[in-house]
Amino acid sequence: MTDSPLRVDPISPVIGAEISGIDLSAPLTPEVVETLHQALMTHLVLFFRDQALSFEQHKAFGRHFGDLHIHPAAPKDVDHPEILVVHGDATVKFVAGELWHSDVSCDVEPPLGSILRIEQVPTSGGDTLFASMYAAYEALSGRLQRFLGELTAVHDGQQYYVGRYGGRDLRDGAYPSAEHPAIRTHPVTGRQALYVNEVFTTGFKELKQAESNALLSFVLKHCAAPEFQCRFRWRQNSVAFWDNRCTQHHAIWDYYPQTRHGYRVTIKGDRPFYAEADVDGRRAVP
Ligand code: SIN
Repeated sequence: MTDSPLRVDPISPVIGAEISGIDLSAPLTPEVVETLHQALMTHLVLFFRDQALSFEQHKAFGRHFGDLHIHPAAPKDVDHPEILVVHGDATVKFVAGELWHSDVSCDVEPPLGSILRIEQVPTSGGDTLFASMYAAYEALSGRLQRFLGELTAVHDGQQYYVGRYGGRDLRDGAYPSAEHPAIRTHPVTGRQALYVNEVFTTGFKELKQAESNALLSFVLKHCAAPEFQCRFRWRQNSVAFWDNRCTQHHAIWDYYPQTRHGYRVTIKGDRPFYAEADVDGRRAVP
């Protein structure tokens, strides 16, 4: 992109880049979309400032990267079922994403990415942490990488969603659950990423319960190490676009009783597959 004012400024060597010189409400050329896609593959989460997007513009931006995902359990607007409202104020009992997670990893085909615009910010606080699951994988010993690489992680939506959304607006008539490789291969970069998270993962299928609990506890603590992370300070109309296949995030709810309000568009993804996968994406060597 020789003539473009678009700039990509990394905010850490591991994860996160600020993108400037772009108006996401305007039509984007294929070259700009490709530049953003490449930046996402390199930096895993992209941050934009001053993007006052309408719902239609927000959805149009998301559609450059794939079909839009419908949340399996959250209430849906009739006109915009692809828009997830993210809200915290003095009256709510929970906010979206206040534990480490990859969005809707309990879906059989979990989302590729998510694009969140925050419209109202508290006077301070309400930051979001993002962590690279490539970095988390690469920091493990080779022996543990190989052991986890043969495990299946169970992801359950009910345990998290039931107390929050109450089951009144279920996309499929039931809460989603899925089994995924504990280590997934990114379909674009080919890199290995840990794919286990605090919100949805209940254990490892091949292990005894006590073994599974102990390993899960270790892996979740490992994923949350500060050196895998960046932290984003929102302003009104900031946008974050993250790759759910190789990151986790954690929305910090430290601003009660103030209000934080925004909207998320989520992009459909593919079924995760093992490094040594057969044609169905399952393990080649059980
Ligand atoms: C989410 O998990 O999508 C919410 C993230 C945030 O509110 O920062």
